[in-house]
Amino acid sequence: MCGIVGYVGSGSALEIVVAGLRRLEYRGYDSAGVALVADGDLWMRKRAGKIDVLEEALSAESPPDSSTGIGHTRWATHGGPTDSNAHPHISADGKVAIIHNGIIENFAELREELTEAGVHLTSETDSEVAAHLVALTLPDTGDDLAEAMRQVSRRLSGAFTLVAVDARRPDRIVGARRNSPLVVGIGDGEAFLASDVAAFIAHTRDAIELGQDQVVELTAGGVEVTDFYGEPVDTKPFTVDWDASAAEKGGYDLFMLKEIAEQPRAVADTMRGRIDRSGQLHLDDSRINDNELREIDKVVVIACGTAYHAGLVAKYAIEHWTRIPVEVELASEFRYRDPIVGRSTLVIAISQSGETMDTLMALRYAREQGARTLAICNTLGSTIPRESDAVLYTYAGPEIAVASTKAFLTQIVAAYLVGLYLAQVRGNMFGDEVRRILDQLADMPSKVDLVLDTVEDVRAIARELAEARAVLFIGRHVGFPVALEGALKLKELAYMHAEGFAAGELKHGPIALLEEGLPVVVVVPSPSSSAMLHDKIVSNIQEVRARGARTIVVAEEGDESVNSVADHIIRVPATPTLMQPLVATVPLQVFSCEMATVRGHDVDQPRNLAKSVTVE
Ligand code: M6R
Repeated sequence: MCGIVGYVGSGSALEIVVAGLRRLEYRGYDSAGVALVADGDLWMRKRAGKIDVLEEALSAESPPDSSTGIGHTRWATHGGPTDSNAHPHISADGKVAIIHNGIIENFAELREELTEAGVHLTSETDSEVAAHLVALTLPDTGDDLAEAMRQVSRRLSGAFTLVAVDARRPDRIVGARRNSPLVVGIGDGEAFLASDVAAFIAHTRDAIELGQDQVVELTAGGVEVTDFYGEPVDTKPFTVDWDASAAEKGGYDLFMLKEIAEQPRAVADTMRGRIDRSGQLHLDDSRINDNELREIDKVVVIACGTAYHAGLVAKYAIEHWTRIPVEVELASEFRYRDPIVGRSTLVIAISQSGETMDTLMALRYAREQGARTLAICNTLGSTIPRESDAVLYTYAGPEIAVASTKAFLTQIVAAYLVGLYLAQVRGNMFGDEVRRILDQLADMPSKVDLVLDTVEDVRAIARELAEARAVLFIGRHVGFPVALEGALKLKELAYMHAEGFAAGELKHGPIALLEEGLPVVVVVPSPSSSAMLHDKIVSNIQEVRARGARTIVVAEEGDESVNSVADHIIRVPATPTLMQPLVATVPLQVFSCEMATVRGHDVDQPRNLAKSVTVE
């Protein structure tokens, strides 16, 4: 939610900041703005709309030369997407510019205080108060921007990343972080601040993740980090393990298409190096020992959206392999229902970004209750893995398209590895049984590759159905979360009514939705791996067809039993049941992407959405 960039050095701040904003546009795209420090003044431009609109406005101007600047791309919370609500916000004296990501929960009382002090606020945002407060605090600090930021941060509640510049101090920018991401990039004679390393990866791969309640002051020569009370803190530098090309489209029209195509590599990378010669699995970072894992009597997966669907898939596998009960819960619901978690509960937080506020809050709640926590995450050094007892990173590489694709497949793989690890240390499975599953997983990149070879057929089906009013998705067992994921993709990309159902549940109500010609996508399990499930779903397809629906059947190669009941067949390679989500999801991603394209939507940046949801 909202992308933030800051730069100080000797380069062109405007160019660097706008290029950074482009890379962060996935985080929010309803307005954008920049502020530069030049000749003792602030130069600021901001516009409602995407960054293109801002760039067009900038091209009609003569911005000053400046090597210190900040920029923001917004996902609106308080106040609609207008020019005046766009960031940066400037203090009443015109000297301090601020950008903000998050929600300042006590902004109403601060606004009132400022109004009573005679300050005229020009936007409806919660963020603007921070600009005025910093400017009003500066004189008491001897014009020390970092100290003013610390004092103001102590007064704010909620979630915020704030970055500020002062027209009188062109040599520095200051950032503060609470419950919202902020990363520092260290270059040669230059430094960067951003919500995500993607913003500065073209300049440096050396980064520092700011911790909770920290303030950072950046100059071209260095970086100083303190807590909100001015105490210096140790920082955790890291090197980003991908380069600028990974965050570009690489010849594809859409990030989503590129990311779909990257799935075989992403799955392979997520497995790589996890298993040593003796067949032992390894996590990235673990402060939970094997004895503690043997004491676990319940697993709770917390996640949102697509990551939640990955958790639902994992439940089938982890319960099957470990015989430990697994609950999968939407993170936004978990902490508000007084869940039963304790020392013997393993809470697995799944998150691509590692910053999703609902998941983070659920994770913190679980920790407070004494649970052991494990993060499955795609973003090195982000908050959720930092606050977990153990981490398994998915090596999907940067996922830029708002619709999650490669993250989903790698989350399933990572969760399966956790399940196998648990089964291994608890003695639920023999070594050869674990290895058999690992071999099946190792086959999946090439099977996903085979699916990618057939996507043209899927696109043709999507084009044929693009005018449909709604689409239903049904599946059984692990095919059920795949159906949910198929429906989510279609909703968020094609803005169509789409629902996923457990196929067996149709007759308990949803079957009433069926009407002549309604497309129903059916995920059919392998007949050889689970004959009973397979036969049941073939009966479900017949029931659907009997009511006039048009059936699009995802079935494995060689399964001829679906020929007579399918209007369209999408073939996927034969896989054991638990592996099927890794192949069956891919055509559904392509289906939604094509539907959205035909319907003229912005696939990478669907309306109302943002990639990283850092508000509750
Ligand atoms: O970064 P996270 O994995 O925590 O994000 C969770 C959801 O917001 C995310 O999966 C969302 O549902 C996707 N846009 C779906 O494609």
